Amino acid sequence: MGDQGTHAAARPLRILSGVQPSGRPHIGNYFGAMRQNIELSKRSDAFIFIADYHALTTIREPKKLAEYSLGLAKDYLALGLDPGGCAFYRQSDLPEVCELAWILSTVTPMGLLERCVSYKDKMAKGFAPDHGLFAYPVLMAADILIFNAHKVPVGRDQIQHIEMARDFAQRFNHLYGEPVGKTFFTLPEAAIEEHVATLPGLDGRKMSKSYDNTIPLFAPREQLKKLIFSIVTDSRAPGEAKDTEGSALFQLYQAFASAEETAAMRAAFADGIGWGDAKQTLFDRIDREVAPLRERYNDLMAKPAIIEEQLRDNAVALRERHATPLLRTLREAVGLRDLSKAGDAPKVEKEQAAALPQLKQYREKDGKFYFKLADGDVVLLQSIGFENPKDAGAWVARFRQEGGAALSAAVASIAAQTAEAGAALDALKRAEDERAQSKTG
Ligand code: ADP
Ligand code: TRP
Repeated sequence: MGDQGTHAAARPLRILSGVQPSGRPHIGNYFGAMRQNIELSKRSDAFIFIADYHALTTIREPKKLAEYSLGLAKDYLALGLDPGGCAFYRQSDLPEVCELAWILSTVTPMGLLERCVSYKDKMAKGFAPDHGLFAYPVLMAADILIFNAHKVPVGRDQIQHIEMARDFAQRFNHLYGEPVGKTFFTLPEAAIEEHVATLPGLDGRKMSKSYDNTIPLFAPREQLKKLIFSIVTDSRAPGEAKDTEGSALFQLYQAFASAEETAAMRAAFADGIGWGDAKQTLFDRIDREVAPLRERYNDLMAKPAIIEEQLRDNAVALRERHATPLLRTLREAVGLRDLSKAGDAPKVEKEQAAALPQLKQYREKDGKFYFKLADGDVVLLQSIGFENPKDAGAWVARFRQEGGAALSAAVASIAAQTAEAGAALDALKRAEDERAQSKTG
């Protein structure tokens, strides 16, 4: 695994995403989540994982769960994920995730979980209403918050879960961050690719393992062809113009095709392409993309021990660098403390406030003006050099006013940033707000 500490400085945005090993992934999973994850892992501080704790809510066959987990790891590797360039891990190797989920569940209103669409959906599909399914979003929030991710690339159906994670983070920050404005968690955002947010399956409904209407990502060639030829279409004959709107076949094509190819397919629909020809074109397009990957996937067949070792090593490093220190802070914050010190007077507010990170403006030997955010000796954020001191000053003022929310606007002015910068800026903003309030109030 790459050194996340070093990467954090060079790669400002932290993204995190998990896929459940609850079946063989399909092209909906690929376009809705995996492809984005892989692309982002090349340029961000990326955390990508196998959500096997989550899959336990639906997979009751131990052998299957293990097979699907290995399959998913191979999928990612075949698709080009570099396990040395990002944090690629298995959720169940991080028991801190479960501990955090419990802590979060103590600030989770039941009503919020009851309104959860995916839970209702699972009930409608006849799953037993057990606690694991019900608490699913809390575990998912723990996945995201344990690494303080900024962006979570997912399909549209997961947006509500990300919003819930934000909500839990805010509640926790509010409950335990007072009175000194300490921020424990960054508020995460969903990242959605609009045109493929929901890919249709063979029957035109959302492609989903639970509807049995999927095209598996690495289906053998013959099976791929058979599946594509079984996509439902209307009864229009060759020569009759066809609607692209609402056509599963067209949407699937669009997901793989370039803008030019899509335009050509649109024209062919208007010209009355026969369904058989359209399906053949779709098959050729998908197969062209998938064939080399299929080969890589098959090559990985012989390497389960290497995969297992990589996942474990990555988890050990992640626990050490992130999960263990975070849980230590959280335990202290909620009062799960060293009892030998339990009788001590609480730290005075001033002392803690003095420990806030600091935004500093300064001039370097190169004559340029800079600002940085430092927490003691640790530099959390470092600007580029500005010719004019006002430019550096304007950013400092904006960060004081807006906190971490100003980070995305400041990307071009920042030379290096750690993942903790957002939370630290939020903490500064709170302290600033409180100071202003106590002056006026
Ligand atoms: P499934 O519905 O097949 O069980 P999951 O719920 O495991 O799929 O979803 C895994 C990821 O793939 C999620 O981020 C989800 O939003 C995305 N995803 C699932 N189905 C689709 C689809 N048909 N189109 C786009 N993205 C999808
Ligand atoms: N719930 C997600 C899904 O079904 C999988 C998941 C678990 C996840 N934890 C996550 C996705 C954290 C993103 C971030 O697809």
